[in-house]
Amino acid sequence: MRIGILTGGGDCPGLNAAIRAVVLTAQLVHGDEVIGYLDGWKGVLDDDYVPLDVPECRDILAVGGTILGTSRTNPFTVDGGAERVAGNLTAHGVDALVAVGGEDTLGVANRLGEFGVHAVGIPKTIDNDLSGTEVTFGFDTAVQIATEAIDRLRTTAESHHRVIVCEVMGRHVGWIATHAGIAGGAAEILVPEVPFGLDAVCDRLQRRHLGGRFSSIVVVSEGAVPVEGPDAESFRLATSGASVDQFGHARLGGIGAWLAEEIERRTGFEARVTILGHIQRGGSPSAFDRVLATRFGVAAVTAVHDGAFGTMVALQAGQIVRVAIADAVSKAKTVDLDLYRGVAGIFLG
Ligand code: F6P
Repeated sequence: MRIGILTGGGDCPGLNAAIRAVVLTAQLVHGDEVIGYLDGWKGVLDDDYVPLDVPECRDILAVGGTILGTSRTNPFTVDGGAERVAGNLTAHGVDALVAVGGEDTLGVANRLGEFGVHAVGIPKTIDNDLSGTEVTFGFDTAVQIATEAIDRLRTTAESHHRVIVCEVMGRHVGWIATHAGIAGGAAEILVPEVPFGLDAVCDRLQRRHLGGRFSSIVVVSEGAVPVEGPDAESFRLATSGASVDQFGHARLGGIGAWLAEEIERRTGFEARVTILGHIQRGGSPSAFDRVLATRFGVAAVTAVHDGAFGTMVALQAGQIVRVAIADAVSKAKTVDLDLYRGVAGIFLG
């Protein structure tokens, strides 16, 4: 069999572990040939690929990023793009394509089914927002990085009696903020799923500081927004003009700085902001992410050999299962509100 593999969307720790698992399983267990498309869907569109063999994949398990490169190219925004992708795969005798990605990359894989592309998906993203799987690889490492950052911010916040706003990634969902906020003992955790009232946040911070705590960490997802009203308007004004990618996502950023400024203005507490940004996506994957990516890679090759096209491998109750890609990308997996309110909520303020 000839298997193609690509990594698309934002990179994350564990991509190379997944590539390694696919290549080693395909070649050593099944005797398959594997080619790697460069820079996500762009590589398939441009017919840009490299052969992937065991020797170059053996030692990439712990390496961050992706040896194949990635992009946010969407073939459906290119005239005749889907036909070109299908034609290029057929021309090279690619029997199946393993797409490693989040909702955008896998959404494309799903739509390409209509064009005769045989795809199996592997879920990755630090945001952890794909449905059908309890967790995506990349998330655990990002939470670990954010938690370490919060621990460091806490000591400087305490020394200076400051409020420090820590902006973490999470475009539509607040999984990183919620987990890192719980793990780091944040005073406030603000997520996209639950618009926040700025006055309420400031009141709680004031009560906390009156109660004898003289510093606070506020963790905010980049996609969090104030409740509709003058604050939401002021925030929109402060962050307008963001560029949009080929999947229609605006480049986020700005909530942390806006929040720190408003908190300082309304409470009188000195406030600072730290934006963790791409630090959360870089570097070596955690042991958990290495194991998960490896299990997904092995399972994806099995799915290819079973002809289970249009499915994504997923983690459910500790087991690797298959779900329809269509279901996985149909809606974002938002933060569990029992966790957000029922657990994180108890320790805030
Ligand atoms: O991959 C998901 C993500 O990390 C989001 O959390 C974030 O909004 C986005 O990617 C940033 O994308 P880029 O690196 O293209 O700016």
